[in-house]
Amino acid sequence: MSAAGNDDAIEIRVAAVDDGNRLMEFLHEHYYREEPLTAGCAPPEPDEADEKFLLSNLPHGTCLLMLQHGRIVAAAVAGPKTADEAAHLFAEAAHLAGSKWGRILGILAIAERDANVFARFNVDRALHVHAIGVDAALRGRALGERLMNALADRGRDLNYPLLTVDCTSIYSGRLMKRLGYESVNRMPYTDYVDVAGQQLIRPPAPHEFLETFALRL
Ligand code: COA
Repeated sequence: MSAAGNDDAIEIRVAAVDDGNRLMEFLHEHYYREEPLTAGCAPPEPDEADEKFLLSNLPHGTCLLMLQHGRIVAAAVAGPKTADEAAHLFAEAAHLAGSKWGRILGILAIAERDANVFARFNVDRALHVHAIGVDAALRGRALGERLMNALADRGRDLNYPLLTVDCTSIYSGRLMKRLGYESVNRMPYTDYVDVAGQQLIRPPAPHEFLETFALRL
């Protein structure tokens, strides 16, 4: 895969299992620090289970690296899901209750249930974006847009009927809107509370809600 029409030496390719270490190094620097769910609950670092889950998507051939002169400048982690995804996320969240990743899975489970994409789009599987990060020094230059377009192409090549993404960041939400994704659910962070009514995740401003978007492929 290459970005035809651009002469900025950018190359986009499918990430291999062997890329796991450098992908994770990139995500620590340019994704986890600012991703609103990770930034919105203590401790600041992601749980190991979170990192392991992201890396478990590599064998599906659905994760992409954007490289400039061999250096990673953006990455997208995506993987397959089926209609039992919400149930699976609720079970995992319960199993990991009390941990940071358990808390994050809890809000993702609610978003998955409420977006209800399998019934809404009448499909039995979808490609779901779990993470997207662009080098902090290169934001706002449409690299995220190019990467998402390449991911949609990859999804079509692999015969996925639908691409979905939970935008936890207002910036990724803007990007999906600009790309023509349909907004299917919006959940304010103030709605995600424990039994005592305490808000469980508090992302920094300007991020106020998790919005789920979908694109038919
Ligand atoms: N400050 C203000 N606006 C920003 C911004 C920043 N730091 N970063 C991106 N934007 C805006 C762009 O101006 C653009 O808005 P527009 O459509 O109104 O013009 C939109 O966000 C997307 O721009 P684009 O250039 O296509 O995307 P990008 O290459 O900047 O990448 C992200 C967007 C979200 C991938 C990038 O901001 C990022 O890596 N964030 C940290 C990790 C994260 O939160 N990932 C998303 C979790 S769902």
